[in-house]
Amino acid sequence: MSIREAVFEKDYTRYAWQLGKNVSYTEKITEFILQAKDTEYAIAVLDGGYIAHIYFGRRVDDEDLTYLLRLDENPFTPKTNERDLGTFMDCLPTEYPCFGVGDYREPCLMIMDADGMSSCKLKYKSHRIYKGKPELIQEGSLGESAIRLPATFADEDEADTLEITCIDERSGIEAVLVYTAFNDLDVITRSVRLKNTGSRPVDIRRVLSACVDMPGSDYDFITLNGSWARERAVERTPLRTGKQSVDSVRGESSHQSNPFMALVSHNADEDGGEAYGFNFVYSGNFIAQAEVDQHGSTRAVMGINPCDFSWRLGTGETLTAPEVVMVYSDSGIGKMSRTFHDLYRGHLIRGEYRDKRRPVLINNWEATYFDFNTEKLIDIAKKASELGIEMLVMDDGWFGHRDSDDSSLGDWFVYEKKLGSSLKYLVDEVNKLGMKFGIWFEPEMVSPDSELFRKHPDWAIGIDGMERTMSRQQYVLDYSRKDVRDYVYSMMSDVLESANIEYIKWDMNRQLTETGSHMLPAEHQREIWHRYVLGVYDLMNRLTTDHPHILLEGCSGGGARFDPGMLFFAPQIWCSDDTDAIERLKIQYGTSICYPASAMGAHVSDCPNHVLGRTCPFATRGDVAMVGTFGYELDVTRIPEEDRAMIPAQIEKFKRYNPLVRTGDQYRIGNIFKDNTWDAWMFVSKDKSEALFTFVQVMSRPNRRSRLIRLRGLDEDAYYRNEENGSVISGKLLMNAGIYVSASGDYVSKTIAFTRV
Ligand code: GLA
Repeated sequence: MSIREAVFEKDYTRYAWQLGKNVSYTEKITEFILQAKDTEYAIAVLDGGYIAHIYFGRRVDDEDLTYLLRLDENPFTPKTNERDLGTFMDCLPTEYPCFGVGDYREPCLMIMDADGMSSCKLKYKSHRIYKGKPELIQEGSLGESAIRLPATFADEDEADTLEITCIDERSGIEAVLVYTAFNDLDVITRSVRLKNTGSRPVDIRRVLSACVDMPGSDYDFITLNGSWARERAVERTPLRTGKQSVDSVRGESSHQSNPFMALVSHNADEDGGEAYGFNFVYSGNFIAQAEVDQHGSTRAVMGINPCDFSWRLGTGETLTAPEVVMVYSDSGIGKMSRTFHDLYRGHLIRGEYRDKRRPVLINNWEATYFDFNTEKLIDIAKKASELGIEMLVMDDGWFGHRDSDDSSLGDWFVYEKKLGSSLKYLVDEVNKLGMKFGIWFEPEMVSPDSELFRKHPDWAIGIDGMERTMSRQQYVLDYSRKDVRDYVYSMMSDVLESANIEYIKWDMNRQLTETGSHMLPAEHQREIWHRYVLGVYDLMNRLTTDHPHILLEGCSGGGARFDPGMLFFAPQIWCSDDTDAIERLKIQYGTSICYPASAMGAHVSDCPNHVLGRTCPFATRGDVAMVGTFGYELDVTRIPEEDRAMIPAQIEKFKRYNPLVRTGDQYRIGNIFKDNTWDAWMFVSKDKSEALFTFVQVMSRPNRRSRLIRLRGLDEDAYYRNEENGSVISGKLLMNAGIYVSASGDYVSKTIAFTRV
């Protein structure tokens, strides 16, 4: 059993006496111990119903951890010392802090009840421990049916779940804190389910999903931040007193910040030190925050961004706060990343392609932008198929009357006049070449210049009497509305049924403004941010259920929605519009902090690169894209012959090593954020029999050309053949002394395979 419960009688007589109370005082503490592989997480229910956090870290296998709460130490006095309840509340490490009752650190729950009051006090009511892991369901309201939230999943023999139910007696708000501990992974997940058991409506003004109060503040705060074309750059700073956070109020997880944070010991590197990773399984507004308080303790919280959030809960209604994944590593950031990768590959990503190599695709976006027709696409496909490319993806510009990004979003019918044929003809021709066919949609958007907008201007998000802010000449559809989603879905279905489409790129190219719905009543308006995301999930769910054979790739102006919520529906996500191989080193490094290579959309594109103007060797572009889903994003009929000639071998290499990249363990060796002159990484099979080492030299250097690089992740006691030069060397030597890697020139790459002998 990975979750157990124990009850301890604690005698605090001495302290009661010290406080001038001449009474003997015994407290009953119920302790819950969650063990996830080598990780332990402990919770206490104190007399009076306070739910305290005891411990999160390496497994200690001890029964009684309650001394860590320092309940016998001033000012951490037992709460029966009512004289100082305020101090107690403000010091107690707690599992789910409420606003307004003495804990002045960041709260997780804040309400406004029918009297306009915002304080609430959750007290323990009951608990339940069971095998497996529940699905996260948002029950229907306002005419909506229930919607399943993305979340990790586990069978009964893979995880155990603890649910602690607490109640705020005054408002009747009940909170169920849900914890799941995975048996074979250092992972604990959390989510929260609120229910209004009272007789009057309550507005939930914030409901975060997780809080961890950690002793001390000797941690660095790691986050993944950036912008368009440079997503998920790693930033690391020591914690300081006060709040440090990343967030999004853009309606999507965003280019600017990813819903991820880690707290790591100051000495943590890839192989050593402690790392606590938090990742939010959600694709909308979020907050990830660490707060160092007056006593130097740290409160980590994560959840839906409370900014502009409110949700009216009528009597009997529920609200489900999305899942936070918490990973603990006692062996550095590398192990933390690999745990996330294993979790997401095995317990989040779904569908037919989860465990399959993805088809090598060619996408026409950077090849043609909006300037294409059936003939041009077939030309590309013909050449591509000769070279071994397996799928043609027709990107933006095939619908409505779209010749630029100024029009037609929402008009999901084929622009036959431009194509010069029906979609079916094009797809059939591509299929005849032995290739699959994929297509681009941006289902959440509408152009002002579209039939859809002219007919239903109220279907776009907006506020009456206020001009909508334009972005990329488009508006966002109100996905909180079922009628809007139904309409878009029926148009998409017609397209999907009209031809043999086997892949969809689901794009989202602008963020939300004037965020109001023409349908929601005033008291429910602020629900729109969350209802929008739920609507997106609903449609993705319908799409993937009705079309299980279609490979779905997420995308948002590049990688603005690379989050675990999307991975639940799409086994791969376009990493970035920046396809330059050298910039990709950073983007893919940052992405790998918590997301697996199997999910990283990466292509070989044309040079000079369209974003940077940089020219990299074709081989380097291939080696970098190969540690993602792999494909091409160029006009294969027009690139230099010597590049084109390399494609068949590149594809063979991809096919040969993709199982390793897709299912193996990733070890980052270089750190491009610290030394931007080179990078290196390894993928090692789970049984350690095979490894692929990749080195990229960004800048050559004089005199000492070769670099001594220690490999990682191999079996120390085994011998490996270096497939480049045939030498056989022990794992011990490769990892402790290393190998010399030499390369000549800038932007060059080298891969070396190792096989256990
Ligand atoms: C976004 C995507 C690109 C491409 C364009 C099309 O920017 O990230 O890959 O699909 O939209 O408009």
